[in-house]
Amino acid sequence: MLPATVSDADDADDADDADDADDADDADDALDPLSAVTHPDPYPYYRELATHRPFFRDQRLGLWVAAGAREVAEVLSHPDCRVRPPAQRVPPALAGTAAGDLFGRLIRMNDGAAHAPLKGLLMPLLAAIDPAAAAHRAAALAELIDLMAADTALSAERINGVLFTLPVVTLADLLGLPVAVDCATAVAVAAHVAAFAAAQSPLADANTVQAGALAAQWLGNWLANAEPATGPLPSLHVAAHAAGIDAQAVSANTIGLLVQACEATAALAGNTLLRLGRGKVPSGTSPEELVAEVAVSDPPVQNTRRFLAADAHLCGHDVKAGDAVLVLLAAASCIGLADGKCPWTFGHGRHACPGDRLAQALAGATVRALLARGAEPAALARAFRYRPSLNARIPHFC
Ligand code: HEM
Repeated sequence: MLPATVSDADDADDADDADDADDADDADDALDPLSAVTHPDPYPYYRELATHRPFFRDQRLGLWVAAGAREVAEVLSHPDCRVRPPAQRVPPALAGTAAGDLFGRLIRMNDGAAHAPLKGLLMPLLAAIDPAAAAHRAAALAELIDLMAADTALSAERINGVLFTLPVVTLADLLGLPVAVDCATAVAVAAHVAAFAAAQSPLADANTVQAGALAAQWLGNWLANAEPATGPLPSLHVAAHAAGIDAQAVSANTIGLLVQACEATAALAGNTLLRLGRGKVPSGTSPEELVAEVAVSDPPVQNTRRFLAADAHLCGHDVKAGDAVLVLLAAASCIGLADGKCPWTFGHGRHACPGDRLAQALAGATVRALLARGAEPAALARAFRYRPSLNARIPHFC
C-alpha cells in the first residue's frame, strides 16, 4: 500500500503563499487534487494543472501541489523533501499499536542513513525476481489455491477477492513463504495484508485502524513461524545479520513488500479490466500490453506526499520546514513517462518503486487468470465504484 499521510502542516498564514491562493480558489469546485483520485474522469483536470499550474499552494487543503512533470521530479529528488513529517514518523492513529511499530520500520516510510543498509539488500532481492517467472507462478497459484473454483460463479465479489489475493500470495510464495499450503492460508494472509494496508489510510475509521493493528500482529506471528527454506529470505536474514541490521526491521519490511503489492497491484489489474470493459482496445492487445498502457493513462497510484524537513526553495517558491507537498503523479503522467521509460505511477527518485516490473507482471497475470475463468469486463465496467481513497484509484466491482 502507498499510504497518503495526512498533512499536519498548518501554514495558511504564510504571506508568500498569498499569490498562489487565487489559484486554489479558481479551481473547479467539483474537483480538487484529492477528490480527483476517485473522480470518473479526472484527466482533463490533471492536464490543465500540469500545463498551467505546475506548482501551487492549495490553501483549502493546506498543501503545496506539484503537477508538472518537471516539478514532480524536482520534489521527489529534493533532499529536504521527506516521506514523513519529520516530527511524526508514524501516523497518530497507529502510534502505540503493532501496526504503528511495523509502519515505523518500513524503508518506504523512512529517509536517511539508518535505513540505507536494509534498503541496499531489499532492492536487489526484488530486482532478482524474474517478472516472467512471477507471472507463470501466479497462473499456477490461481489453480493451486483454488481462488477461482470452476464450480463457483465468478461474482463481482469473488473478482474483488482475487484482485486483492493473487498478487500478494504470489509475491509471498516467490519470497519462499509457506502461503500456498492451502486456500485458507492464502486467503488469510492476503486478508491480513489488506487489513494492515487499509489501516494506513487517513480515511481509516477506528474499526479499520483496530483491524489493522490486529492484522499487523497476526502477520508478525505468522512470519515468525514461517521459516522459509527456499527463496531469497534466508540469505536476506544472513546478510542483514552480518550488516548488524535488526531482525525485526527485516521482518517488518518483508511484510512491507506484501503490503506494497496489495492495493496498488489490485488497482492496476482492476483498472485494466475496466479499460477492457470500456472497449476501444485494439484487437490483439495482450493483457500485459494493456497493463503497461493503463499504468500511464489511468494510473493506480495517483499521488504521493512529501514533507519539508527544512526551509527550501522548491520549484521557484519559498517553502517552509513542516510544509507538505502533494505530488500529483497522475498529472505528470498526462505528459508522458518519467525519464522516458517508467510510468510516473511508480514514483521517481530515492523512493521510486523497485517492484514496477514485477507489479505489472502480476497485474497482467491476474487479469489473464480472471479472463480465462469467464470474467466479463463489459459487465464489470457497468457496475463498479472507486474505493474511498486519497491517493489510489482502486475499482470495487459491484
Ligand atoms: C509487487 C508489487 C510491488 C512491490 C513489491 C512494491 C514495492 C515497493 C517498495 C519496497 C517501495 C518503497 C521504495 C523506497 O521507499 O525506497 C515502493 C514504492 C512505491 N511503489 Fe511500489 N511495489 C509494488 C507495486 C506497486 C504498484 C502496482 C504501484 C503503482 C502502480 C506502485 C507504486 C509505488 C510508488 C508510487 C512508490 C513510491 C512512493 C513514494 O515515493 O512516495 N508499487 N514500492
